[in-house]
Amino acid sequence: MKVFRRHFSKSQLILVIITAFILGVYYPKIWEQMRSINFEEKNTASGNLSADNYNELLFSKEQLNEFNGMGGHPIYLALLGRVYDVTRDEKHYGPGSSYHFFAGRDASVAFITADFKNDAEDEADNVLALKSPGISSLINWEKFYKSKYIYKGKVIGRFYNESGHRTKYENQFRAMAKEAEFDNFNKEKLRDKYPACNIEWSLGKGFHVWCTESSGGKERNWIGYPRKLYEINNEDSRCACIKNENLETNEVVIKPYDNCDSESQECYYHAN
Ligand code: HEM
Ligand SMILES: *[C@@H]1O[C@H](CO)[C@@H](O)[C@H](O)[C@H]1NC(C)=O
Ligand SMILES: *[C@@H]1O[C@H](CO)[C@@H](O)[C@H](O)[C@H]1NC(C)=O
Repeated sequence: MKVFRRHFSKSQLILVIITAFILGVYYPKIWEQMRSINFEEKNTASGNLSADNYNELLFSKEQLNEFNGMGGHPIYLALLGRVYDVTRDEKHYGPGSSYHFFAGRDASVAFITADFKNDAEDEADNVLALKSPGISSLINWEKFYKSKYIYKGKVIGRFYNESGHRTKYENQFRAMAKEAEFDNFNKEKLRDKYPACNIEWSLGKGFHVWCTESSGGKERNWIGYPRKLYEINNEDSRCACIKNENLETNEVVIKPYDNCDSESQECYYHAN
């Protein structure tokens, strides 16, 4: 202590002790802060600020490419021209991990085709060129990314133009999405109104279909009669439980099973 007394005043000594204390307690936090400052400096990848929306960045394909998780950069993924920060799930998207394919690019097509090898960049986001564009599935993925990850902005290209406005392509996609949503809504309504039968198969008896108050997963206070149901413009039928009052409907095509009593709640048949 004598050495300290000679070189420091009492207040200086207290200051040193307090500083040492703060450093000791907050060492991990301070270290983290310093590392992040370092990181920001190294991280030169960025998008351009959108003129219309300050919370949003606009990325060229090349700019987005930088965000592939290499060299400590964050990982961004684009779906339908919208960019999300998926860095928090580095274990799925980081270099060498199973979905790294999606990092730093818009590979919307692969969400439908599951072709994680084909990385022809020009077509990777051209979902409308697919025979069946899987619109509903893409919308579900979009909901997933919106809810789990932070939205960063847009990719300039197929879905958004250089000012970040919707392209014709994007409008067409959204129109189809609306239609698909409407179709799904109607299909669900039909499944409520004409619930599926229970179904089992055995070598001897063939198919056995029957209706109960919960068949098709639709709890209800009626049972219905098993019938072949054809939705309009669909040549495949399914077994549906039809309520008495709906037996004569024109909304769908309803056909009886061969050799099955019209009042029976179960039928047997063999596949042709
Ligand atoms: C079209 C096909 C597929 C696509 C586009 C796809 C895409 C994805 C994506 C993007 C993720 C990361 C989700 C996130 O951000 O949390 C993921 C996770 C995962 N996928 Fe797939 N996947 C496909 C098929 C499969 C198949 C067939 C399997 C199983 C054999 C599978 C198993 C998994 C598993 C285990 C996870 C991790 C889930 C978790 O830990 O949260 N995927 N998938
Ligand atoms: C981003 O901004 C830079 C600098 O203003 C410009 O040179 C570049 O073309 C912009 N990129 C895009 C994709 O708008
Ligand atoms: C982007 O689209 C908007 C709306 O269609 C249009 O007014 C604008 O001129 C376009 N910007 C560019 C750079 O093409």
